[in-house]
Amino acid sequence: MRFVIADPPTLAKSIADRIQALLDRKRDAILGLATGSSPLALYDELVRRANAGAMSFSSAGAFLLDEYVGLPADHPQRYCNVIDREFTSRVDFTSGSVRVPNPNVHDLQASCAEYETDITRSGGIDFQILGVGTDGHIAFNAPGSLHDSRTRVVRLSDQTRRDNARFFDDDVAAVPEWCITQGIGTILDATELVVIAEGNSKAEPLRRLARGEVDVDWPVTALNLHGTVTVFADSDAARLIPPELRTSLSMSRSR
Ligand code: GLP
Repeated sequence: MRFVIADPPTLAKSIADRIQALLDRKRDAILGLATGSSPLALYDELVRRANAGAMSFSSAGAFLLDEYVGLPADHPQRYCNVIDREFTSRVDFTSGSVRVPNPNVHDLQASCAEYETDITRSGGIDFQILGVGTDGHIAFNAPGSLHDSRTRVVRLSDQTRRDNARFFDDDVAAVPEWCITQGIGTILDATELVVIAEGNSKAEPLRRLARGEVDVDWPVTALNLHGTVTVFADSDAARLIPPELRTSLSMSRSR
């Protein structure tokens, strides 16, 4: 596993380079998108390049990792609205090419199974962007999630609800209790994965990941089962990573 360490703008450019190279060789690539604050600089960089005519998402597709259950359709924190606002509506994805788990159905299990089928029918995710929770969760797969889990409805842990309260005016009670998440098995099916981790609170999950072990109590360590993962971390998140695993990118550069 490689740990690339730099300031957030440099990390964003480095990941954007990879996505640009992917779309150059495969215009209809399927991207796996994450919400949370960690990918925001990357999305801004992709928007900047798309607006400059350097890249296009017009033939690409995307699947979002997860979605809250129980929020009104127009709620600003519904992940379908977040990803639309932060990224997908700002570039040239075509209508219907960005898919999000659908929580507005009577049969949520069927909706999850349909999402899995849609991913498979698309040919699978070429490039998955991931954040990591302070408790090591990926998407909304909390500690204890099985490594072969698939898209399903799960209850959010108290820790994750506390962490995400900042998006709900610091009101933990306003954070939904339930969500739909891609499973760890679903995530591991992607061809290439990148993890973006910023800030001190991500140091412990990254330390566990760097040990190379696989521990169900730290979901992010399941990524040690995948051969093509790169972790992009700022110096705070990477502070417990051993020197021999680090690749430092020293300065912010523009493409
Ligand atoms: C939420 C999302 C995860 C994300 C995590 C980390 O819980 N469901 O997919 O990885 O937040 O978010 P942040 O990048 O804001 O730290």
